[in-house]
Amino acid sequence: MELYVLRSKEEIGLEIGRRIVERVKQNPYIVLGLATGSSPLFTYEAIVKYSLAENVSYKNVTTFNLDEYVGLEETNKQSYRYFMNENLFKYLDFKKESHHFPSIENMSNYDEEIKNSGGIDIQLLGIGSNGHIAFNEPFTNIDEKTHIVELTENTIKDNSRFFKSINEVPTKAITMGLNTILQSKEIFLIATGKNKSMAVKKMLEGKYDPSCPASCLNLAKCKVHVYIDDECYEGIK
Ligand code: GLP
Repeated sequence: MELYVLRSKEEIGLEIGRRIVERVKQNPYIVLGLATGSSPLFTYEAIVKYSLAENVSYKNVTTFNLDEYVGLEETNKQSYRYFMNENLFKYLDFKKESHHFPSIENMSNYDEEIKNSGGIDIQLLGIGSNGHIAFNEPFTNIDEKTHIVELTENTIKDNSRFFKSINEVPTKAITMGLNTILQSKEIFLIATGKNKSMAVKKMLEGKYDPSCPASCLNLAKCKVHVYIDDECYEGIK
């Protein structure tokens, strides 16, 4: 696991965005694992900026998103499909059919679909304040593949900031499992702000602790790049 401490979330976005665009240029058929939430927003902005400036095409790129709420239509502003369209997809020349999101219908085949596409070359991750990655809550079985989950009160509360009221936050989601994520060929995790410090601290202890799902990345065979900002770092020291 490699730790990078940068000044701000904007800087992290520019850095990871640049690295991803370089990789797309090297391999136009790359398979990207994508995340939602506020953490990757500046990364998506940077990907769009660099790609448009350098005329980088995404017509052969495949994407697999980490997770999606159960029961939200694609047109619902809180759905992760809507989020991806608005923050990344609509600006670049992706083919609509190259995007994959886990759902009740496809969850039992999702890992197989990832495998058949050649596997995820780069997986982008955020982290919850309780250490969750995607929607793998504390004490999730590390062998889980894509599956349905009941969200914890903590996550519902954290994510309610995107909804009009906490009652509108879905209580269930479909998520790639920890096992799915660990199959990736390279991982970039972003954690910014003080409320992520405790989870990041646990993850950086170097061993797998089931109370902090993100710490499973210590068992990853691939490269894991952890990007945090000064504020998050302050809370770890
Ligand atoms: C949600 C998502 C996660 C994300 C987490 C952190 O629960 N399912 O994939 O990492 O929130 O969100 P944020 O980046 O907004 O702090």
